[in-house]
Amino acid sequence: MSKEVKIAIMGFGTVGTGTYKILKDNGELIKNQVGADIVVEKILVRDRNKKRNIEVSDDLITINADDILEDPSIDIVVELMGGQEPAYSYIMKALDNGKHVVTANKELIAKRGREILAKADSKGLGLCFEASVCGGIPIIRAFKTSLAGDKIKRIMGIVNGTTNYILTKMAQEGSDYKEALGQAQDKGYAEADPTADVEGFDAAYKMAILSSIGFHSKVDIDKVKREGISKITKTDIEYGKELGWTIKLLGIAQDVDGKLEVGVSPVMLPKEHPLALVNGVNNAVFVNSEAVGELMFYGPGAGQMATGNSVAADIMDIAKEVVLGNAMKTNCSCFEDKIVAEESRVSYYTRISVVNKPGVLAQIASVFGNFGVSIESVLQKKTEGDRAEIVWITSKVEESSFRKAITSVKSLDVVKEVSSIIRVEANGYC
Ligand code: NAP
Ligand code: HSE
Repeated sequence: MSKEVKIAIMGFGTVGTGTYKILKDNGELIKNQVGADIVVEKILVRDRNKKRNIEVSDDLITINADDILEDPSIDIVVELMGGQEPAYSYIMKALDNGKHVVTANKELIAKRGREILAKADSKGLGLCFEASVCGGIPIIRAFKTSLAGDKIKRIMGIVNGTTNYILTKMAQEGSDYKEALGQAQDKGYAEADPTADVEGFDAAYKMAILSSIGFHSKVDIDKVKREGISKITKTDIEYGKELGWTIKLLGIAQDVDGKLEVGVSPVMLPKEHPLALVNGVNNAVFVNSEAVGELMFYGPGAGQMATGNSVAADIMDIAKEVVLGNAMKTNCSCFEDKIVAEESRVSYYTRISVVNKPGVLAQIASVFGNFGVSIESVLQKKTEGDRAEIVWITSKVEESSFRKAITSVKSLDVVKEVSSIIRVEANGYC
């Protein structure tokens, strides 16, 4: 009799159905590499009667999680529901009951990964989560294997497809933010409530996971600085273009003298930077490491089949060990305990609306100077009636000094509004 590894899928939406399809369609290919058939024993859903665009035997479907968690024949539980609960409780119960776990749940891994990994290790069980970061891009595996002996210095990533689609539409078609968001919703990229994507939460979860693995030190999600794209305007995109820059929502994580800095924010990038060329819903992670140098991983950050492939690869990795009867380790690589600090020094693009009269530029420049903020360039943009718009590009400056300077600038009578502040990464690639 041929060997079997039995799995159950909890959640049968976009990723669940993609994973199922790959396991079915590529069954022979998978069996030849794993050394066993991977058999889907049960599928958990919320609504049994929901119409699904995939054919699956009714016997497999359950709405009772314990049909999976209490079934001793199931080797691997694949959690593809999303959210914190009941996903957390189900995963912990699966591990308690001796089942290996695969998940795509970035929110859960970013918020409670430490506990979950510790539980899996204490039980000698596997826990894999490749699909939680950048859907179809094999980035976690690359960090844990191919780059395991190298020292990563910096990670820059477009890790959210929805926001990259919106910013691409704004840059290429001149759409304003609301129009582009509407298009992202029509295409099914952005949820009806797009907050997690556009306010940078989704990207922050992914950067917490990626930087924890890349820098071997747990990065708590509440230490990840986060700013989304909802304040980005057509005007800033146009002015950025004139300066030779493209705006992207970037996750940036770096090791600065042994301290980690991890954040997500809109960034003005030189238009020839490889990340500036990543358009639409695609994701990319640009890595700078000591031995290899610059690397870029590019591909689909979401989607049924692309993400399903990442989940299937995790299932296969664990199934191979199940076949060999090996105890597993999660290979959690957070063996260091680095401090996660505020960003050291950053350049800023600042658009300020002022009263159009002589001496205004000098007044603002003097305030910046008082706080040690050095100005790299100043551009007077449109002038309308008694108003003018001035764009200031600062040199690299400590954020606290810059924020104090901005507070002081805002209090000047001649300043109508500080319309936008956007980080600039203009000096080469890294
Ligand atoms: P989805 O399409 O909304 O599917 C979620 C599935 O989980 C549905 O089948 C739903 O059942 C089921 N479910 C939800 N809550 C449940 C509960 N309490 N009990 C039982 N079943 C429940 O979600 P998805 O896009 O596939 O995402 C799944 C996970 O993958 C999430 O963690 C997400 O962040 C992650 N992920 C997604 C993508 C992507 O491209 N979509 C990419 C990377 C990572 P019903 O069908 O009956 O409603
Ligand atoms: N909502 C995510 C994105 C996809 O837009 O990139 C799932 O990770």
